[in-house]
Amino acid sequence: MKVKNICCIGAGYVGGPTMAVIAKKCPEIKVTVVDINQARIAAWNDEDVNNIPVYEPGLGEIVAESRGRNLFFSTDVDGAIDEADMIFISVNTPTKTYGEGKGQAADLKWIELCARQIARVAKGDKIVVEKSTLPVRTASTLKDILEHTGNGPHFQILSNPEFLAEGTAVQDLLEPDRVLIGGSQDEGGQKAIQELVNIYAHWVPKEKILTTNVWSSELSKLTANAYLAQRVSSINSLSELCEHTEADINEVAKAIGTDSRIGPKFLKASVGFGGSCFQKDILNLVYISRTYGLHEVADYWEQVILMNDHQKRRFAKKIIRTLYNTVSGKKISFLGWAFKKDTNDTRESAAIYVADYLLNEQSYIAVFDPKVKSEQVFMDLDRLNTRNPEENRKYVKTETDPYKACEGSHAVAVLTEWDEFTGYDWQRIYDSMLKPAHVFDGRNLLDKDKLKSIGFQVHVIGSSD
Ligand code: UDX
Ligand code: ADP
Repeated sequence: MKVKNICCIGAGYVGGPTMAVIAKKCPEIKVTVVDINQARIAAWNDEDVNNIPVYEPGLGEIVAESRGRNLFFSTDVDGAIDEADMIFISVNTPTKTYGEGKGQAADLKWIELCARQIARVAKGDKIVVEKSTLPVRTASTLKDILEHTGNGPHFQILSNPEFLAEGTAVQDLLEPDRVLIGGSQDEGGQKAIQELVNIYAHWVPKEKILTTNVWSSELSKLTANAYLAQRVSSINSLSELCEHTEADINEVAKAIGTDSRIGPKFLKASVGFGGSCFQKDILNLVYISRTYGLHEVADYWEQVILMNDHQKRRFAKKIIRTLYNTVSGKKISFLGWAFKKDTNDTRESAAIYVADYLLNEQSYIAVFDPKVKSEQVFMDLDRLNTRNPEENRKYVKTETDPYKACEGSHAVAVLTEWDEFTGYDWQRIYDSMLKPAHVFDGRNLLDKDKLKSIGFQVHVIGSSD
């Protein structure tokens, strides 16, 4: 079989950019990205690529180049499945919010629906590729469903986890550290692996394409995210110690990061990690470990999440404590709502939880984020169910102008490390605020000395005030 048609189910932060890059690099392959969300597909098809639903530097240009040539976005899921030789499953797998495994296990409802749909529609043999992050052994669930409900065709299941990070997705896809493909060890499995290797080999050097068995591939994805998140929680735990001593977390991070065994990346202390992957994947790892009775393993990884929750809570508490132990009726300005810079994604963003904490103390919050839309901010808060939507709208305002967001506030809190925040006219911001004017820098982003010389009281994660 030579793959001529690819279908990707799920046009989200993973499916969209990944398929756009495959289409760019494999012009002879037709790539169709499908989704049940009509509005999302309409946005991917928007004539103006500035309106595509995922903000990623460089993505608009890549979509513009291939869309209509060999890259298509559609809601016709059945049609695309029928036509495809290879189907990527890239749907969401959030943490379960009900029943057994609630709050920890991944909800595989959408994956199962996809598998049943593929089985119902497929008339010929297909290679099915797991792209979404999944608990170990999901491939066997997929195989079971496909084999028991299909109409006769053969399916090969591959695991091909995506390692792109949001904000740098295009670069990560164009020049990945590695591509990982897991498949069954029999002849059919090896052939299917080779088909997928051939696709990536269009632009990725062969030595960077690793092939393993399915289970190793699935577990490697969870492990990579758990290791990365653990680094953030480790440095964040020490940031608290620095605030109580005269050590500075940036200096400590530099000193340890120059040890080639430790390395300099992922040592940036922050208000806490967010994103769709880290928490979900660690919870998943914890759940799987407990399922096998491995309680010490589970407790070990769970601590990474507990530390992250502590970091977000402690940031909010510091604001309250500093503002004379009450923020009731006071305006706090948030610069940033996305979980990191250069993305419009807000899933599990620290900003949501810090806001929730402050709103419990009856503060008013004005939010400015360069890429996050107002509806998203309210959707994130409403989803917490801490208070009703009317109250969220009463206490939270979103602004499209950062200066307006900061006007008349007691404190500015930096929640996302957007580059543009450093270039603002901070004197103008200071002049428009109530005094004493506080800045709580949750990202170690701003020039502390410059702010102090303007007159701000500056509070930074990881160094004493
Ligand atoms: C992560 C993995 O990096 C990626 O390989 C995987 O495919 C998906 O999950 P992502 O969540 O998009 O990617 O972003 P990442 O850059 O890993 O950042 C995650 C969170 O950690 C962000 O909130 C970020 O601000 C925070 N972080 C990261 C820190 O607080 N400090 C750091 O030093 C690094
Ligand atoms: P990720 O970050 O993993 O890409 P997203 O939530 O951004 O996650 O995207 C997942 C997409 O999958 C959503 O747009 C959702 O509508 C889509 N989706 C979920 N289930 C199905 C399904 N059965 N068929 C088609 N699309 C689906």
